[in-house]
Amino acid sequence: MSQLAGADALFQPIRLGAIDVNNRVFMAPLTRSRATHDGDVPNAINASYYAQRATAGLIVAEATQISPQGKGYAYTPGIYSDAQIAGWKLVTEAVHAQGGKIVLQLWHVGRVSHPTLQQHGELPVAPSAIAFESKTYNATGFVDCVVPRALRVDELPGIVDDFRNAAKNAISAGFDGVEVHAANGYLLDQFLKKKSNRREDDYGGSIENRVRFPFAVVKAVCETIGSDRVGIRIAPETHFADVDDSDPSAVFGHFVDRLNELKLAYVHVVEGETGGPRDLGGVDYVALRERIETAYVANNGYTRELAIEAIAAGRVDAVAFGVPFLANPDLVERFRTNASLNVADQSTFYGGDEKGYTDYPTLEAVPN
Ligand code: PHB
Repeated sequence: MSQLAGADALFQPIRLGAIDVNNRVFMAPLTRSRATHDGDVPNAINASYYAQRATAGLIVAEATQISPQGKGYAYTPGIYSDAQIAGWKLVTEAVHAQGGKIVLQLWHVGRVSHPTLQQHGELPVAPSAIAFESKTYNATGFVDCVVPRALRVDELPGIVDDFRNAAKNAISAGFDGVEVHAANGYLLDQFLKKKSNRREDDYGGSIENRVRFPFAVVKAVCETIGSDRVGIRIAPETHFADVDDSDPSAVFGHFVDRLNELKLAYVHVVEGETGGPRDLGGVDYVALRERIETAYVANNGYTRELAIEAIAAGRVDAVAFGVPFLANPDLVERFRTNASLNVADQSTFYGGDEKGYTDYPTLEAVPN
């Protein structure tokens, strides 16, 4: 039974700001592109999907656009319209009915978009007019991202307001809190990292300047709903969506020092390359963790064993699992009993219906 005794580390309750959770196995935010097409509205199958996974200590619901401008892919949900708030209520009520906790990830994609995904065919916006030289997908399939329009300084307060409004809407929709998405090459990460931020004003150049806008967003969200219900996700080393920085330790060290002023509920860190190698060598995550004065949620490539080891050693407070949770609604129970895992079907990750979404079997359904 030593393996089961080891798993105890995963089953200690923890308080994240104002959010009490009863285990350390979290569900990472996962884009599934199954919102109702008309209006990007969450729906009943989204509610079933999340309710099936409600035994997670905390569900971080998928990246959700804070405004029409924040959208970068077809069929991702929003949190700016009344219909979207009503749709998300179905989700939060279903999760809470199962005893789960759920926060919403607030997302602005910046340049990772296309005029066909924007209102009135507008250009996507970014810190600088530098294209993401790859693709996104719209209703017709994959399309090349375009050269975005560099944001004017006088537009930044409007985006801060969109984040504020989205956070308020998330609370109205019944979420336990929000996670500001500052990772994976989307708008806030585009500001943080040098390759995508070539601005020569107060929001570019020095590390202090590059941190200014993301920090203002997080601060505004904290002022709106209370910092004890706000987390943030960062990905210091990722190159996802072609972001890069020659000194991620310095950038993110400074950023987390500033975030400490806000007393967030947690900081969620993608360690290494999003969905890829964990060990890129550019950031000492133990040192970063020590600098963060709140709960540290780790993500990226963790196994059950690695999670037990990291939590038991006190290096991390919780671990978020993405693909394993997608394919195993009862991942927590499987970890408790060290059961085998369902394999994820990549062909049904994005878009479609219940297939590959709400039909993954639990252990109970398929005893092994
Ligand atoms: C994606 O849609 O592929 C996606 C969304 C958010 C992320 C990463 C990937 O943070």
